[in-house]
Amino acid sequence: DANKKSQYALQTLTTWLLDLEREGTIDNELATVISSIATACKQIGSLVNRAGISNLTGLAGETNVQGEDQKKLDVISNEVFSNCLRQCGRTGIIASEEEDQPVAVEETFSGEYVVVFDPLDGSSNIDAGISVGSIFGVYEPSPECRIEDMDDPEAMMQKCVLNVCQAGNELLCAGYTLYSSSTILVLTVGKGVYGFTLDPLIGEFVLSHPDIKIPEKGKIYSFNEGNYQSWSKEQQAYIDSLKDSSQWGGKPYSSRYIGSLVGDFHRTLLYGGIYGYPGDAKNPNGKLRLLYECAPMSMICEQAGGAGSTGFQRVLDIVPTKVHERQPLFVGSKWEVEYLESVLQNKP
Ligand code: AHG
Ligand code: MN
Ligand code: MN
Ligand code: MN
Repeated sequence: DANKKSQYALQTLTTWLLDLEREGTIDNELATVISSIATACKQIGSLVNRAGISNLTGLAGETNVQGEDQKKLDVISNEVFSNCLRQCGRTGIIASEEEDQPVAVEETFSGEYVVVFDPLDGSSNIDAGISVGSIFGVYEPSPECRIEDMDDPEAMMQKCVLNVCQAGNELLCAGYTLYSSSTILVLTVGKGVYGFTLDPLIGEFVLSHPDIKIPEKGKIYSFNEGNYQSWSKEQQAYIDSLKDSSQWGGKPYSSRYIGSLVGDFHRTLLYGGIYGYPGDAKNPNGKLRLLYECAPMSMICEQAGGAGSTGFQRVLDIVPTKVHERQPLFVGSKWEVEYLESVLQNKP
């Protein structure tokens, strides 16, 4: 009969978005923005996979507002993301790790979503062919700062900054794409977390991880222990305790760290455990950026039943004061993050 599910009924990102539209969870404008992000990720994935062949490894010769030496692919991925978001006509403002300031998009003709993104995460891994990713978040424009006076650049800039500096609680959509053994797009629109694997034969993101739930506890911790010496004594005590197998029935934790937030986070989401980038003596707020790294990952983790914390507060509650503000980040299994918080806060 016509309603029997055909064995060839493919659930793709496109059909998943249409289902969400049909049930009224998202509107057509947001579906269009998400589709344009998926297109950007397909393009970036193909550039990343062929970087060594098309002379796209190595440095661009510029530094970004973070003070980092930009890789060629940092710059190109940023352009790909920006172009796709402009062309979709539903984006009002974009903020990127690779742009000093947020940018108002002229090509908007319907829907004025605010999109924040890290176009290429873990880019120090590119030249070694180790997994990298892209991270994104989508907000409604904040009503009190509608973009009217496009001709007053200073006022415009202020409004753009206000539009992107919203707490993670306001995120309509958060997601990332992992460029690794597979290209996997993982996202949430506030009703659970879904993963789509790119089928290169048809160029579609196919549903591969419906309704991801992170294990309540896990035996993997993911920290750059090279910074151990400059961590607080509570932070050091936390890591020491994970290594003390007598506390864990004789089975110590395993350490896994590849230096790409997207890769380390994706493994944590599926296997359980905890990823952390603590503050330290040199950088009390750590290294990761709240707007387009900490907040989107925290929303995804919470939607999967986990937690996202600075060690002292819930990441999603923080209202950014600056576009590129950094915050310490601990994300993963709820039990693991709560244990970390209890040690950092000297709670029994
Ligand atoms: P990005 O490449 O977007 O600047 O982000 C790099 C981040 C994150 O991906 C990763 O977890 C972290 O930097 C690694 O930092 P360390 O090399 O200091 O461990
Ligand atoms: Mn960077
Ligand atoms: Mn990053
Ligand atoms: Mn980046």
